[in-house]
Amino acid sequence: MSNLAVFVSGKGSNFNAILSSLKDSSNKIEIKVIAADKECPAIKIARKNNIPVYFISLKSKDGFVNYNELIKIFMDLDINLIVLAGFLKKIPDNFVELYFNKIINIHPALLPSFGGKGMYGMNVHRAVFNSSAQVSGATVHFVNKKYDDGKIIAQRTVSISDVKTPEEIAERVLKIEHQLLPFVIKKFTENKIFIENNRVYIHD
Ligand code: GRF
Repeated sequence: MSNLAVFVSGKGSNFNAILSSLKDSSNKIEIKVIAADKECPAIKIARKNNIPVYFISLKSKDGFVNYNELIKIFMDLDINLIVLAGFLKKIPDNFVELYFNKIINIHPALLPSFGGKGMYGMNVHRAVFNSSAQVSGATVHFVNKKYDDGKIIAQRTVSISDVKTPEEIAERVLKIEHQLLPFVIKKFTENKIFIENNRVYIHD
């Protein structure tokens, strides 16, 4: 059984794509909990699906838990895979260490290009557009102690040779994200993801 924790900060379309993918999967995967840094549309999706939500903050704030409290919650839920789905905050180093190679992130570009601090949402697609790149895509990678720097697990490309705006890139890449993230989660659940010589291999 894969017990997932999903971190969100925004619309929750990736979270929703994971939920939809679970409807056809042989319920070996369950989203046990949502962590969010703020109130956002993704929370509505969690509430509608009766998934517990915890608001997470580094500072002590009413109605929020800190990362040590979140670790206790995750231990009690036997969380074994953590998915950052549009989460914009950096995960603290001790949390990354504790869940080493168990935290994955979806990035809306082909890392290692167009990644790093500040590269999120439309910032990414504007940079790709202005670079004159002819392809873009999405990346799922392990989370380490630096933004968008962990080992790449999977990537999928899309042609952007005919786009006229960064928004068109965003739209095409988001569709890719919604396929790629559930694909990687399923492979995790099937124990088909391996690391060798600093590269990640996904077995059929
Ligand atoms: C997505 O483009 C994702 O790649 C990035 O945040 C954006 C919004 O995601 N990390 P969502 O709609 O909140 O899932």
